[in-house]
Amino acid sequence: MIENTTRASYDAIAADYADFLANELDDRPVDRAMLAAFAELAGSGARVADVGCGPGRVTTLLHDLGLDAYGIDLSPGMLAVARKTYPHLRFEEGSMTALDVADAELAGLVAWYSIIHIAPDQRPAVFAEFHRALAPGAPLLLAFQIGDETLHVAEVLGHNVSLDFQRLRPERIAEELTAAGFAMAATLVRERIGRDRVQQALVLAHREA
Ligand SMILES: C[S@@+](CC[C@H](N)C(=O)[O-])C[C@H]1O[C@@H](n2cnc3c(N)ncnc32)[C@H](O)[C@@H]1O
Repeated sequence: MIENTTRASYDAIAADYADFLANELDDRPVDRAMLAAFAELAGSGARVADVGCGPGRVTTLLHDLGLDAYGIDLSPGMLAVARKTYPHLRFEEGSMTALDVADAELAGLVAWYSIIHIAPDQRPAVFAEFHRALAPGAPLLLAFQIGDETLHVAEVLGHNVSLDFQRLRPERIAEELTAAGFAMAATLVRERIGRDRVQQALVLAHREA
């Protein structure tokens, strides 16, 4: 099952990955602006989930923006790093394919470079799950690399892994979100910065009220 290899791969790279990305958002004001817009739409103190949180760098930013943010991730290794780095925040093991939240429980959901690991035929079910978990009107923010291909990667930061990275088209994601019951708010195509190999998409939507 693909989730098992994704989990094992992120377990293997967790500590090095956290160091590698540690301050990356500091140099990405446009990305932070979209996260700030998400926070404002969710509302001060809103309970929001950072799904596929990895080392928790976005979870802590959402917390600093005044949200009641917590992280969810498939990888226990990533969660261990997140809990050690941000002991004041909550991180839970789980998959975006079956979130352990009640219907309409969340006031916002961020999936920052995590739907990239979902096979295309699984995406509608994941977007349906996001829709189920969000309250009517609540915002959803997605980040991903733009493109058409699936990259299979066998080595990351010196570790053997088996990871598929789906590059995605924002127009296609907008169609799928709309079909799942979301209203589109903004699609931002950001040019490459630093290590980026391709343009990046930041997509903001909200569950239809
Ligand atoms: C590229 S990393 C991004 C991590 C974090 N959002 C960040 O930007 O630093 C992708 C993360 O998604 C997680 N992930 C992959 N598939 C998942 C799933 N089905 N449910 C929850 N998390 C998943 C991985 O374990 C990994 O931590």
